[in-house]
Amino acid sequence: MDKGIILAGGSGTRLYPLSRVASKQLQAIYDKPMVYYPLSTLMLAGIRRLCVISTPHDLPRFEDLMGDGRQWGIELTYRAQPEPRGIAQAFLIAEDFIAGDPVCLILGDNLFYGRSEISNYCRGFSSGGLIFAYRVRDPERYGVVEFDRDGRVLSIEEKPRQPRSSYAIPGIYLFDGQVTEICRGLRPSARGELEITDVQKVYLSHNQLRVAPLGRGTAWLDTGTTSALQEASNFVAILEKRQGSKVGCPEEVAARMGFIGLDQFDALVAAMPDCEYSAYLKDIGQEMRHVRPAPPTGAGPV
Ligand code: G1P
Repeated sequence: MDKGIILAGGSGTRLYPLSRVASKQLQAIYDKPMVYYPLSTLMLAGIRRLCVISTPHDLPRFEDLMGDGRQWGIELTYRAQPEPRGIAQAFLIAEDFIAGDPVCLILGDNLFYGRSEISNYCRGFSSGGLIFAYRVRDPERYGVVEFDRDGRVLSIEEKPRQPRSSYAIPGIYLFDGQVTEICRGLRPSARGELEITDVQKVYLSHNQLRVAPLGRGTAWLDTGTTSALQEASNFVAILEKRQGSKVGCPEEVAARMGFIGLDQFDALVAAMPDCEYSAYLKDIGQEMRHVRPAPPTGAGPV
């Protein structure tokens, strides 16, 4: 699949007063805006055509930050979600973008880190629906999936009081071209939203939903509250300081994936102000001139 949607809507009320300054997905996770992380996750999966959805108020800020994506060898288009009417509404807003093709939706506030697990599923995806399952201590805060030993999905529930499993459904979903038609048939839930779990339930009822448990080697972090934001920042800071490699850096991903050539990469970096970020990329540029960039398959956690 080569199409992805980043949903960066919502009012971010739990981050008040930070959310008055900037949309949640533009807040800092350590040294980068939050949206860079889900963007990098999709780029690492080889997805190069992307649609970013946000509120009419915040959309210009995203456009200003990321432009048409050409600088990173990808195509970015933007669509507004006037009211927060649920995650599944993204598929209706982006219907012309999807145009009947398979698509990967990622929530703009979900941070993934780990080696190629998600990328491999995206690359191998062709039909139906695929969700991931991630073991957490507090599944009641999320969509919860119950599955048997053969990986068959038994039930899907949105924020159940008494979860039937410890597996939350992270905010990254793979669906085929049927998804827009399915969303058109959905009714808003009690909270007035088109629920993403209802989309999954329709695929399940058609026997077309698969679940892929993410192993311990993959980290999935929440960024919904100020303390979760702080923890995600600490996580990235610890990795970056220890390894000397940045996480979620679109310029680096673009170069390592071969989306842009090294000359374009150097020009990008040259246009940046002198700062720690550009100094890092300068080093990476030099390194890549000497060591061949890693091939797209098996690309590591950048
Ligand atoms: C949403 C989904 C939920 C999913 C979660 C992942 O919840 O409704 O199924 O597990 O994202 O972050 P929300 O963030 O809207 O509470």
